[in-house]
Amino acid sequence: MLVLGIETSCDETGVALYDGAHGLLAHALHSQVRLHAQYGGVVPELASRDHVRKTLPLLREIFQQAGVTPGDVQGVAYTRGPGLIGALLVGAAIGRSLAWAWQVPSLGVHHMEGHLLAPMLEAEPPEFPFVALLVSGGHSLLVQVAGIGRYQILGESIDDAAGEAFDKTAKLLGLPYPGGPALAKLAEQGTPGRFKFPRPMTDRPGCDFSFSGLKTAAINTWRKLEPTPENRADVAQAFEEAVVETMVIKCRRALQHTGLKRLVVAGGVGANRRLRERLRELAEERGGRVYYPRLEFCTDNGAMIAYAGWRRLAAGQAEDAAIDVLPRWSLDGLPALNPVAISQ
Ligand code: KG4
Ligand code: ZN
Repeated sequence: MLVLGIETSCDETGVALYDGAHGLLAHALHSQVRLHAQYGGVVPELASRDHVRKTLPLLREIFQQAGVTPGDVQGVAYTRGPGLIGALLVGAAIGRSLAWAWQVPSLGVHHMEGHLLAPMLEAEPPEFPFVALLVSGGHSLLVQVAGIGRYQILGESIDDAAGEAFDKTAKLLGLPYPGGPALAKLAEQGTPGRFKFPRPMTDRPGCDFSFSGLKTAAINTWRKLEPTPENRADVAQAFEEAVVETMVIKCRRALQHTGLKRLVVAGGVGANRRLRERLRELAEERGGRVYYPRLEFCTDNGAMIAYAGWRRLAAGQAEDAAIDVLPRWSLDGLPALNPVAISQ
């Protein structure tokens, strides 16, 4: 089954063609970073308008890349939520309309399920069950994954998401948008050990996260210092180390609690090098393995939506010809998929 995937939940237009028998045939992405940079963050209305401009040209590009025609498409998947409502509506309207015109089924995909399944696009995909750490700009979740749609949330952020904490701290340190990657780059030049920030919520049981106090600790320290490049890098290093170590502690707990050895890390913050290094050590320490999507599929992309859509469409799931999106959508309310009901 050949599925077209469309991702427009935030500031990236991503499209892809995934085929059950041949895998990922083509994908393309347009990032709106330059559009939003001058405002220091995503401007939702500008995001929606840019998705309108970019989606169809990107679709033409992937059909050409893959050497297939719209007549070959057997299903359309688009991101239904969570995300920015206007941005979601663009992908939903285009995806649903194409499916209707092409007379094929379509399905609205959960953005975080897309992230969660992104490592399945790699040469050595993880087998179920596993623990997933999903860390993006809007969410921080630890999930026990028994199969598709069989998700038990072990912990989540009670305030800022991990990526949000990176972005806000970066902004307060005077770094350009998007802050997360800029802060991570700067942290590499920092002197380890000069500052030590708290590891929030690690002194009590459970796998929930809280990052907003950490952001405040970093900023209060920064404001008392001379604003030199060295000081900025040292604060960035200590902030990144605190976020990373907190996530490592929670992942260790989640693995201990579930007795699982496989850990999947996905979402934009999963691109963080220090996090990847520390989680690899954790998995080795526990005699297990950590699985990541390739870097370009850690952040938002169309391939993960095409893949997640294919899994569900190929199992017979589809929806009525109505366009609705869910800017807020709980991951553990998704219908479970019967593991044997898969056709190519
Ligand atoms: O998954 P994603 O592309 O979009 C959402 O679904 O939110 O994640 C974007 C988030 C942003 O907050 C960004 O700053 C963060 O991921 N991010 C990083 C890194 N690369 C992206 N955070 C820390 N280190 C990185 N290398
Ligand atoms: Zn995302």
